[in-house]
Amino acid sequence: MLEYIINFSKNQKAKSITLEVNEKNIPAIKLYEKYNFKTVGTRKKYYNNTYDAILMTLTLNT
Ligand SMILES: CC(C)(COP(=O)(O)OP(=O)(O)OC[C@H]1O[C@@H](n2cnc3c(N)ncnc32)[C@H](O)[C@@H]1OP(=O)(O)O)[C@@H](O)C(=O)NCCC(=O)NCCS
Repeated sequence: MLEYIINFSKNQKAKSITLEVNEKNIPAIKLYEKYNFKTVGTRKKYYNNTYDAILMTLTLNT
């Protein structure tokens, strides 16, 4: 699904993809890092008023 979204976004000539992921969701963070997403920020206590959301962006070379 992630590859589909990346390819779809490239076809749409998007410049970047940004997502948010729970700081505790290590498998998901690792997956996004494998696809070259970089951490660009956080939303404090975004999940359940407890855990931070990590914002990650993939810059697309269109
Ligand atoms: C996100 C998801 C697709 C990742 O699947 P996956 O790549 O098969 O996950 P794995 O179990 O192989 O774990 C990935 C890595 O995280 C590591 N990991 C898993 N739990 C961990 C933990 N608690 N602490 C540290 N590392 C951990 C694994 O060792 C593995 O490391 P490696 O790549 O260096 O071998 C899967 O977890 C999923 O479907 N999650 C539910 C939906 C979801 O969270 N979506 C994202 C919403 S933002």
